[in-house]
Amino acid sequence: MVAETVPPVIRIDPSGADRHGEAARMREAGQVIRAELPGGVQMWVITDYGLLAELAADPRVGRDWRNWDALSRGEVPEDWPLLSMIRLNNAMARDGGEHRRLRRPLTRTFTRNRVEALRPRIGEIVARMLDELPALADADGVVDLRKHYAYPFPMQVICELIGVPEEWWPRFRQLIDTVVRADTTAEEYMATQQERHELWQKLFAMRRAEPADDLTSALLAINGEDGEPLTDEELEDTLWMLIGAGHETSISLIVNATRALLTHPEQRAKVDEGGDEVWAKVIEETLRFDSPVGNFPARFPTEDVTVAGVTIPKGEAILAPWSGVNRDPARYGEDADQFDIDRSAGKHMAFGAGPHVCIGPNLARLEAAIALPALFARFPELRLAVEDDALTAVPSIFSNSVVGLPVFLGAQAQA
Ligand code: HEM
Repeated sequence: MVAETVPPVIRIDPSGADRHGEAARMREAGQVIRAELPGGVQMWVITDYGLLAELAADPRVGRDWRNWDALSRGEVPEDWPLLSMIRLNNAMARDGGEHRRLRRPLTRTFTRNRVEALRPRIGEIVARMLDELPALADADGVVDLRKHYAYPFPMQVICELIGVPEEWWPRFRQLIDTVVRADTTAEEYMATQQERHELWQKLFAMRRAEPADDLTSALLAINGEDGEPLTDEELEDTLWMLIGAGHETSISLIVNATRALLTHPEQRAKVDEGGDEVWAKVIEETLRFDSPVGNFPARFPTEDVTVAGVTIPKGEAILAPWSGVNRDPARYGEDADQFDIDRSAGKHMAFGAGPHVCIGPNLARLEAAIALPALFARFPELRLAVEDDALTAVPSIFSNSVVGLPVFLGAQAQA
């Protein structure tokens, strides 16, 4: 029998500063490698697009953290901040029948029609924010598009959809940021858990007393119709997952698409010349080229699985590098690192794959399809106020974007 070679270990930089370079280095190291995450926790990484797609669909590999041996053995510190993305009590962290029980109420209530019904409201929010943008410029005429446009808007949409009272929105935003950041302290993490629990309990009590036309009321109304009802804790985690998953990712899509167009004049020219349908190409190519989700923890094999000749033992953790595989040259060719809206290589995995594939693509695409054309139509002279390499990455292993997008709006801002 030939002994397997020990896979190389690559350290993941929590600053996210060179995420695509890091993904390329991981790919060069092998199709199946190990990564060291902040805090010294190690996980396996599949760097090849096709192999990761297969693994995500493999029924022997799930998302239930209770199958992570290192955690059961107490080797993962209780206060490890990334646990908040792993140790969940919602669909993201259950497999098989339990996964279906938790995911089904969402797919029943978070329907295409419910999303489509948001179109006029999203249009209104976007128009209002665009009106306000010029007044938000600093003394040099610079506006941070992330802070003043991409950031508040998906949060508002998802909070309205769920039925979170308006006065809670800023606090929810802070709580989400605490979870996403890689430098959250143990105390901050524990306080976040407690506070969000109290807020959800309050919301459930309000909607049980008086249902409204929102997702929380719809979920409470159908709860138990498809089998064992979701507990309050599961409902909390489910809604929290929607806000977390539907907020940061959508911001990143809008920021990353704007940044890509502002730094690729030849692609922007195609947009200027193209019709409405060109925006769908911008959105899909951004999702591939600069995927909002970088490295996503975690999957856990319930049996030993062999991938490209390497055995990943049962009970280990696997990280999915979605933004990395979306630039895999084996899939997209040698120009995989180029932003090209006419690329015909087809599907990307920005929304993941397998039974846990994202449930929010319709909403994410709708938000971007309204926000991006409206922004470029209102401010046709929009340009970056700094060099692209001066932009700072979101300090996260998970979120792939920049913390600010400073721009000049151009002459139309004065009009
Ligand atoms: C551009 C925006 C978005 C991106 C790039 C994105 C990406 C992802 C990814 C990579 C996963 C993991 C899939 C896997 O493990 O295979 C995921 C899961 C999920 N996403 Fe999204 N997402 C986006 C927007 C949204 C929105 C708007 C919502 C809802 C409001 C949402 C809800 C979810 C949920 C509920 C899951 C877990 C599904 C499950 O485990 O069964 N996402 N998303």
